[in-house]
Amino acid sequence: MATPTVNINAPAHVKHAKLLAWVQDMANLTQPAHVHWCDGSQAEYDTLCDQMVASGTMKRLNPAKRANSFLACSDPSDVARVEDRTFICSDAKEDAGPTNNWMDPGDMRATLNPLFAGSMAGRTLYVVPFSMGPLGSPIAHIGIELSDSAYVAVNMRLMTRMGKAVLDVLGTDGEFVPCMHTVGAPLQAGQADVPWPCNPTTKYIVHFPKTREIWSYGSGYGGNALLGKKCFALRIASTMGQAQGWLAEHMLILGVTNPQGKKYHVAAAFPSACGKTNFAMLIPPAGFEGWSVTTIGDDIAWIKPDAQGRLRAINPEAGYFGVAPGTNMQTNPNCMKSLDRDTIFTNVALTDDGDVWWEGMGPAPEHAIDWQGKDWTPAIAAETGAKAAHPNARFTVAATNNPALDPAWDDPQGVAIDAFIFGGRRSTTVPLVTEARNWTEGVYMAATMGSETTAAAFGAQGVVRRDPFAMLPFAGYNMSDYFQHWLNMGETLGKTGATLPKIFTTNWFRKGDDGKFVWPGFGENMRVLKWMIDRIEGQANGVEHMAGVTPSYGDLNWNGLDFSSQQFDAVTSIDNQAWRDELDLHQELFDKLAHHLPKALLDTKAAWTAKL
Ligand code: OXD
Ligand code: MN
Repeated sequence: MATPTVNINAPAHVKHAKLLAWVQDMANLTQPAHVHWCDGSQAEYDTLCDQMVASGTMKRLNPAKRANSFLACSDPSDVARVEDRTFICSDAKEDAGPTNNWMDPGDMRATLNPLFAGSMAGRTLYVVPFSMGPLGSPIAHIGIELSDSAYVAVNMRLMTRMGKAVLDVLGTDGEFVPCMHTVGAPLQAGQADVPWPCNPTTKYIVHFPKTREIWSYGSGYGGNALLGKKCFALRIASTMGQAQGWLAEHMLILGVTNPQGKKYHVAAAFPSACGKTNFAMLIPPAGFEGWSVTTIGDDIAWIKPDAQGRLRAINPEAGYFGVAPGTNMQTNPNCMKSLDRDTIFTNVALTDDGDVWWEGMGPAPEHAIDWQGKDWTPAIAAETGAKAAHPNARFTVAATNNPALDPAWDDPQGVAIDAFIFGGRRSTTVPLVTEARNWTEGVYMAATMGSETTAAAFGAQGVVRRDPFAMLPFAGYNMSDYFQHWLNMGETLGKTGATLPKIFTTNWFRKGDDGKFVWPGFGENMRVLKWMIDRIEGQANGVEHMAGVTPSYGDLNWNGLDFSSQQFDAVTSIDNQAWRDELDLHQELFDKLAHHLPKALLDTKAAWTAKL
């Protein structure tokens, strides 16, 4: 049966024929009641927020406590990325590889089409034009998200450069990645809406790498719905990077300036909810007077070689969608200051004075409304274990709120990277910091990185899973081909004569016999960062072991911290038996990734094994 043609209300300035045709097709497919083209203005943001307050999706927080800030609480079934519902639909299954869910593109389209048909009935379709990266930057790319969620539209305004200016850059024929999103909850005539519409039973987060399309069905939460983030900036962009010779990585980017005013840039990959935001906003501790750390990005880096063969990085995002629980004035004061105003909180608790609270923020309120709308008191928590905030509760805030924002954060040329860091969450085995002796060894370290799982995705927590490059849920193609791409980049750039960034691994999370973290972490990680910079300058020693180079106690600056050499041993010692077991686990990973696995990685493993 033919579907009625929807009036897409395109503004007169939109002259991009392909974009207009696509919006028309998608509107006809999904049958929204209205179509709204987002201009990205403050007035539009305010209107959408007011509408969501009126409809019960968001609550306005007490302006005296948090100016212009809101709390949204999701449906309890829609609280995290759904990795088991995430698909890479390449033509051949091997191109998605064993770490991704795959479905034949034709079969997937046949599955999605009936789900999307009529899916926006009774709702508004928002056309959200966004640039990942500074507008017009040679490293940036544009996407257009069509979504029936106003929550998505306002979050996209904080997380990306969004609105009319993007359409201006796109012109009449610029390239864009089409991103289709529906919460999958059509409204029948007269049917009342719910505060957090989503589809409780059916979710699909789908990527078509060949045609560079994203289709997301059934969820309104985070990376499932803000399609610029994981879907575009990592999964689709990683395939673009493979084809075009650049890198799309799950990395923060920071600037670090020494007391002499010399500045370095570091990109660091840690798995989800392992402290990327804290590291990106680090405040140097006592003993590091004259040093400063500034934030370029907290989650994603796009890195392209410049004409001289130097790797230059931008943060494709313009805001932070960070994990709230555990964030406080001790762990991350810059982050807490960023959240003073203009913030959207999701799934945290509401206090009686109209503010927010989460576990690990500071003293608990006597009473609050938890993220599921229930009464919460410390006594209830003690009795039932109920959490006031969901462990994956989030804040969305524009980067410009960050007091430590780097002046070059929006520089279209990006910043030159001096070092890469890969850091897992491991209670044992892996030392506090290790420098790779060469690029291939660094790729090996990153490829075999393991980490104990967190609440950022559905599933068991605290189990060690291999998370190569912190990209396990985000690589848009075969993981072994991705390793090869990193090796190729090193080889190609090496030939230009450019200095390759040094590669380090870190592990802030080793535990002592008492089960407690030994390393104080947070601002104290500056001590490790300084050692890395000294190594770049050839000014610090280290001890070589089977897996690379690790500092000895005397190689770090201990001014202002009481940390004994015994404690240092507890976070840096190499236990040969634990490493033999670790290498067996690397082999398990390699067996799984055997198709196209680079031989250089097997050679590195053999070289390490021979040293044990
Ligand atoms: C994130 C994640 O939300 O990695 O950044 O899950
Ligand atoms: Mn992330």
